Amino acid sequence: MKKRTSMATRAVHAGEKPPPSATVPKVPPIYASSVFTFDRLDRIDEVYEGKTPGYVYSRQGNPGIDLLEQAVCSLECGSDGVAFASGMAAITCSVLALVGSGDHVVAGRVLYGGTHTFFKDDLPKRGVETTFVDMNDLEEVRSAMRPNTKLVYCETISNPLMEVADLSALAGIAHAAGALLVVDNTFASPVLCRPLEHGADVSINSATKYLNGHSDITGGVAVFAPYVAGVDARGEDVGGSGSTEQSPAAKVRALAALYGFFFSGLFTWRKGVVRMDQQQSARAAIDLVDRELRFADWVKIESGGAEIRYKFSSDPYHESEQYFRRFRLSGEQLLLETVLGGSVSSSNVAAGGISAVSFEIDGSNNVHISITAGSGEGAVTLQSSVRPRNLPKPASP
Ligand SMILES: Cc1ncc(COP(=O)(O)O)c(C=O)c1O
Repeated sequence: MKKRTSMATRAVHAGEKPPPSATVPKVPPIYASSVFTFDRLDRIDEVYEGKTPGYVYSRQGNPGIDLLEQAVCSLECGSDGVAFASGMAAITCSVLALVGSGDHVVAGRVLYGGTHTFFKDDLPKRGVETTFVDMNDLEEVRSAMRPNTKLVYCETISNPLMEVADLSALAGIAHAAGALLVVDNTFASPVLCRPLEHGADVSINSATKYLNGHSDITGGVAVFAPYVAGVDARGEDVGGSGSTEQSPAAKVRALAALYGFFFSGLFTWRKGVVRMDQQQSARAAIDLVDRELRFADWVKIESGGAEIRYKFSSDPYHESEQYFRRFRLSGEQLLLETVLGGSVSSSNVAAGGISAVSFEIDGSNNVHISITAGSGEGAVTLQSSVRPRNLPKPASP
C-alpha cells in the first residue's frame, strides 16, 4: 500500500492540482494564488524573460487580472490596460509613473476629492506642481501649459458637478505642448464615452462604480492608447526606431508591479457595464416618448396599457380619425408608427433590449410612462410622467 503523507501535509497540499480534463471552464476561474509552481527550475527564468508564457508571482501578473485588463481594454478601445486595487490606486500610480520631480500638471479645478487632494497635497511633496484650471475654459487651459507640463488631467464627467470635458480640444492642447491627456472616465464609463477615441492617451475607470455594478469590489483600470516609441505626443519623431523609451503603459505597469498597486479582487465586474448599456436604451426610449407626448393634444391608451396613440393639432391630418401616431413594442424594439387610413409607416426608435413598456393616464390627464430594458436580475426600469400640453381633449376617437 502506498505510504500516506502526514495529516498536516495532506491538509495543506491535497486537492491542490486540478484533475486532468479535456475541457476548460466556461467562466475563467479566480486564481487566488500569490505564486505559481514550475515543473523545472529553468522555466522560472524563461517565464521571467518572456520566452515562455506563464506567471510567477501575482504582484507581477495573474491570469484572472490579465483577463480583466483585456476586457476593459476592449471596452475602452485601447491597446493595453493595467488593473489596480482601487480607482485611486489607478490614478495615483498612473500619474506617479508619468511625472517626476520638476514636472508640471494641468488639472481640472472640479475633480473627485481624493484626486484633487493627491494633486494639491501629495504631488508637491514629490516636486510636481499642479495648476488647477476650469476645463471648460480652453483659453485658461492653453495659457496654463508650460514647457515642463507632462500631463493634462480631467474627468469626462466631473464628480460632483457633472461638467462635461471637451476631450478632443483638450487632447489637442496637451499634444501641442508635448504632454499627455489623462482622463478619469469613471462617471461616463466606456458605455457612454471612450476617451481614447477622442484623442486621450490614458483612460482610467474606478471599477468600483459602473464597471462592477454590484458594490462588491474595489478596483480600478487604466487603459492606454497605442504608443509608438520615439514619437512625441505631437506625432513628431524624437528618437527614431532605436529609442529605448518605455511606453506610458509599460511605465505604469512597472511601477504597479514594483509597489503592488495591483487589483486582487474577485472577477465579478461585468454586470455593471451591461446594466449601464440597458439603462441607456431605456433612457433614450423614455426621453423620446416623453418629448413626443408633451406636445400631444389627444392621447389614448391601447392594448391594456402597452401602446399609446396620440395626435398633434399641428399635424396636417389632425382632424382625421384615420390618422394617429403610436408607440408600441415589437420584440425588443420600441416602434414609433404613423397610421393614416390603413397604411402604417414605422421607425424603430429604441433598438435592442427593450422588454416592456406601459402607459397610463390618471384623472388629471397626466401620462405615466414606464419602460424596461433587459430582463431578469439585470433589468432596468425607468419611469416618467408627462402632462401633454394640449389635453384635455376627446377621451376617444
Ligand atoms: C470620479 C471618481 N474617480 C475616482 C474615484 C476613486 O475610486 P475608488 O473609490 O475605486 O478608489 C472615485 C470614487 O468615488 C470617483 O468618483
